[in-house]
Amino acid sequence: MTLLEVRDLEVTYAGGAAAVRGVDLSLAAGQKLGVAGESGCGKSTLALALLRLLPAGARVSGRILLNGEDVLTMRWGQVRAVRWAGASIVFQGAMHSLNPVHRVGDQIAEPILLHRGATAAAARKRTGELLEQVGLPAARASAYPHELSGGQRQRVMIAMALACDPRLVIADEPTTALDVMIQAQILRLIEQLVAEQDVGLIMISHDLAVLADTCDRLAVMYAGRVVEEGPARQVYEDARHPYAKALSAAFPRIGDRASRFAPSGLAGDPPDPSALPSGCTFHPRCPVALDECTVEDQPLRDAGQGRWAACVHAGAAVPPPAGPTEDARSST
Ligand SMILES: Nc1ncnc2c1ncn2[C@@H]1O[C@H](COP(=O)(O)OP(=O)(O)OP(=O)(O)O)[C@@H](O)[C@H]1O
Ligand code: SF4
Ligand SMILES: [Mg+2]
Repeated sequence: MTLLEVRDLEVTYAGGAAAVRGVDLSLAAGQKLGVAGESGCGKSTLALALLRLLPAGARVSGRILLNGEDVLTMRWGQVRAVRWAGASIVFQGAMHSLNPVHRVGDQIAEPILLHRGATAAAARKRTGELLEQVGLPAARASAYPHELSGGQRQRVMIAMALACDPRLVIADEPTTALDVMIQAQILRLIEQLVAEQDVGLIMISHDLAVLADTCDRLAVMYAGRVVEEGPARQVYEDARHPYAKALSAAFPRIGDRASRFAPSGLAGDPPDPSALPSGCTFHPRCPVALDECTVEDQPLRDAGQGRWAACVHAGAAVPPPAGPTEDARSST
C-alpha cells in the first residue's frame, strides 16, 4: 500500500488566501520526495495540512490518506497518535521550535512517555539512543537548547521527529540557516536514517539543487499548485515547466559554462494567493506564454518518462525564452 496518497488537496486561509490548490501527491515507504518553490508558494501550508496542524479558520478539502486512513476525517485522538507514531515534522528554525526552558532530553522523551506509555527509565534510555543515532553524545540530553549549536539543535529536532518510529518524516527547510558544512551533514544524516528505517521522506526546500541531490522525486509548486513532478535529477536538469526551468536555472552548476549566463532569478513576484491571475497563474511572468494561457489553466499533463507538467508546452522541451543569442553569449 502507498504510504501517503494526497488527492485534490485545497487549503484556503481565513483571510481568503488560496495557499494550496488541488495538490495530488503519492509517496511509498523508503521514498524521498522533494517539494520546491519560491517563498509563499504553499510548501509549509501543504506540510501543516498533512498533519492537521493548520490554524483555526483554514478551510481544507480533499483527501490525505496515510496508510490508507484519511487524516482529514480522523477523530482528534487518532490524529494526535498519528502525529508522532505515523508521521512527524522537522520544522525549520530549531531554536524556535525547541522549548528554551526544558532540557533537550526531556523534550525528546515527552512523546515517548505520552505516546508509547514508556516508563521514565525506558524513555531516558531511548532518548540516549536517539541522540547517538543523530550523532550527538547521549550525555547531551541534559543540555538546554541555548547550550547547543544550530546544527546540534537541528539534530535534536530530527531525534524528536524519530522518537516514536514514524513511517513518514516531513522536513520543512531542515537546513536553511545552517552553514553549508552543517547543511551537508544534516542532509546525509536524514538520507541515512530514511534508508536504514525505510521511512518515507518529504523534504521541503526552495533549493532545487539540494533536493535533486537528496530526493528520488521532485514536485515544484507555484501559487499553491504542483506545476511539475518527476524524477528529481531530470526535473532539476531538464525541467518541462517554464517556472521549474527558471527555478532550476537560478542555481549555477559547477563546471557548466552555460550556467554562468543563466538568469539569476525570475522577473516579477509570485501572485497574491487572495487575488490569483486568470488562466495559468504563471502567465504574467512566463517567457513562453501563449495567448490562451491568460484564460486557460493547465492540468498536470503526462510529459513522458514518469514526468508531469502543468503547461501547454508539456511533452515537448520548453521553448527557449527570447534573449541573447548563443553567439552573443559566447562573446561575453
Ligand atoms: N496563518 C496564515 N494565515 C493566512 N495566510 C497564511 C498563513 N500562513 C501562510 N499564509 C499565506 O499562504 C501562502 C503560502 O504560505 P506558506 O507558508 O505555505 O509558503 P511557503 O512556500 O512555505 O513559503 P516559505 O518558502 O517562505 O516558507 C502565503 O501567501 C502566505 O502569506
Ligand atoms: S501554460 Fe502558458 S503561461 Fe503557463 S507555464 Fe505554460 S506556457 Fe507559460
Ligand atoms: Mg515555508
